[in-house]
Amino acid sequence: MTNVAVIGSQWGDEGKGKVVDWLSERAHVVVRFQGGHNAGHTLVIDGVTYKLSLLPSGIVRSGKLSIIGNGVVIDPNALLSEIEAVGKLGVKVTPENLRIAENAPLILPVHQKVDLMAETIRGKGKIGTTGRGIGPAYEDKVARRAIRVCDLADEGLLRDKLENLLVYHNALLNAAGAPSMKVEEILEPLLKVAPKILPFSTPVWLLLHQLKREGKRILFEGAQGALLDVDFGTYPYVTSSNTMAGAATVGSGIGMGGIGYVLGITKAYTTRVGSGPFPTELTDEVGATLGKVGNEFGTVTGRPRRCGWFDAVLVRQAIKIGGINGIALTKLDVLDGFKTIKICVGYKHDGKLYDYLPASMKIQAEVEPIYEEMAGWSESTHGKRSWADLPAQAIKYIRRIEELIECQVALLSTSPKREDTILVKDPFVD
Ligand code: IMP
Repeated sequence: MTNVAVIGSQWGDEGKGKVVDWLSERAHVVVRFQGGHNAGHTLVIDGVTYKLSLLPSGIVRSGKLSIIGNGVVIDPNALLSEIEAVGKLGVKVTPENLRIAENAPLILPVHQKVDLMAETIRGKGKIGTTGRGIGPAYEDKVARRAIRVCDLADEGLLRDKLENLLVYHNALLNAAGAPSMKVEEILEPLLKVAPKILPFSTPVWLLLHQLKREGKRILFEGAQGALLDVDFGTYPYVTSSNTMAGAATVGSGIGMGGIGYVLGITKAYTTRVGSGPFPTELTDEVGATLGKVGNEFGTVTGRPRRCGWFDAVLVRQAIKIGGINGIALTKLDVLDGFKTIKICVGYKHDGKLYDYLPASMKIQAEVEPIYEEMAGWSESTHGKRSWADLPAQAIKYIRRIEELIECQVALLSTSPKREDTILVKDPFVD
């Protein structure tokens, strides 16, 4: 048995929630290691729908330990609201089933203000962030002025750190014509929530090593997707954290070698929320159909997702950089009924051919996809639970994807229901 990391291999929203839930049933521990409440994971269990943003998916199952690692940026109010919301659905969150890294940075109200302000300043070049303060909170972490969970225990330290932090942010706010924020404005509410947050605070790295020694099975739950990675994604139209599996080690303290298998969640077509390059985007009827049939609306912001054909070049890139060992292919049924289906197998730009997406934002915006066309299938694949029940043409499509991305399908998901899953390789078993 080994520990598993699950990451998205496209621009997020690949259907991680269902797969993570399916795997978390067999894990003892579920760990979030990057991102914040910009993520939206929807789980449907016994007819109850849970919408999680910050809490690890393991929280909805009894007997599991959920951990928020140091790589996550935590908005204390968002966390408490989410704990309250799941509480109303019967999930009791206590330090017995949730631990938070004492060294995780906090998202403060000033971060959200700056996030929205920065987007306004960017104008046409806006990133289309979720507006939750994620970017500015990570900036503060790297700038070494962040307030961390452990700081909540010391009012004097908290005040000093806030004063230092606001010197920087107020200069920015004032330059944009916005009024300064006062220390008390942030400090008072923080001191109020501190007693509710601190009981969860733990040296997570130490806890993880104990759990590992005890032979507990640990699932690392990634948020967003590989193409939103701050280093390897479509920069600058990315999120502010590393979304690749490597981030699970530094974002939790498990150490190298703590993860044995990386599962990349991959949608059978492509979607993206927010701005940025999207070579296979379809702004025609076909794109609209994918969006409608696939119910492609952002979980967090409700924005319609942009839709397009499967981009094998980008997924192959994500697989290599993300260290992905196998993929979970999701939402194949959304392609049911298409006469023909296209797969992007390369790009053209300025007379040059590319079998990868170069880093230049100009080239990324201008590349033309090279497509391979396949016949579709008219039968339904929805809810199918064995390969034998799948139309031959759908199997052909899957096999061609495997060939192009140089990675095996470990799991096929054929509907949002957890039972509608075809397992090829159990990620937990070596
Ligand atoms: P931020 O993470 O709020 O800074 O947003 C940066 C970019 O990442 C925007 O394009 C968002 O739409 C995108 N993004 C952030 N979180 C998610 C997610 O969970 N799924 C899909 N896109 C996301």
